Amino acid sequence: MTNLSTSALRRVWQLLWGLLAVSAVAVAFGAVSPYLIGDPENSTMPLNPDAPAHFLTIVLHAAPGGLALLIGPFQFVGGLRRRAPKVHRVLGRVYLICVVAASAAAVFATMISTSGLAAQAAFYLLVAAWLYTLAQAYRTIRRGEVALHRIWMIRNYALTFAAVTLRLYLGLGVMAQTVDPTLTFEAVYTASAWASFVGNVLVVEYFIVQRALRPLVGRGRGRDGASEVGARRPAEHGSQEHGSAARAPVAEQPV
Ligand code: HEM
Repeated sequence: MTNLSTSALRRVWQLLWGLLAVSAVAVAFGAVSPYLIGDPENSTMPLNPDAPAHFLTIVLHAAPGGLALLIGPFQFVGGLRRRAPKVHRVLGRVYLICVVAASAAAVFATMISTSGLAAQAAFYLLVAAWLYTLAQAYRTIRRGEVALHRIWMIRNYALTFAAVTLRLYLGLGVMAQTVDPTLTFEAVYTASAWASFVGNVLVVEYFIVQRALRPLVGRGRGRDGASEVGARRPAEHGSQEHGSAARAPVAEQPV
């Protein structure tokens, strides 16, 4: 690849990262702030009249969820990770705590949600995938497998980003209701809840195969390319805490 196309590609990734960061900040502030005032009257979600704790569960879920959404984009900036690995580690731990707290509260919010069984099933699945990918990301970095840690964090943040895509699909669904008045809000909400993470998962899996795994298959012809993904290296996580070994040649981060 020529230098020109490499720098053009870099600009595309920077633009995409900018869009991701701006939409994450917009949703983190726009959707979460009504819940920080502490008045159930401000809830943008219909509250369950039989569950007085509904509002509280959403507050306890949305506040750490919003913080995780804000932290995520900065964790993917390679330059920041290299220049300030300690900041990356501290923010990583804060992100981890936020996702665990937001997940726990989301389980209770889902139980008492008035959104219907199909949407509730989507939220339970999302919580399970959110925690599983987080656990894998944590396990791999503790073993010093930086390249695998990065892949699991991309997967995890794609699920965190469901908070953004959910609101995008909800907006489109509400617009669709004006075209088709028979479309109920429950149908729009359920479809948006499922699409919010299924779409993100498909996009990032494509990205992971094309950017991280495909180059290894080409490079590793005649040897076990897959083992390179799990190779350990200190890199920017560099401390002994994260182990040490050879540099893994998985595709570098775009930003
Ligand atoms: C990725 C895993 C997530 C799951 C499974 C999840 C699940 C839920 C559930 C079940 C509710 C309550 C819905 C109801 O009561 O009917 C909810 C509401 C909410 N969530 Fe999440 N959520 C996730 C991520 C996030 C993130 C990262 C944010 C950060 C902005 C967030 C912000 C909110 C807000 C603000 C509400 C209140 C409803 C609204 O005003 O739109 N969620 N979420």
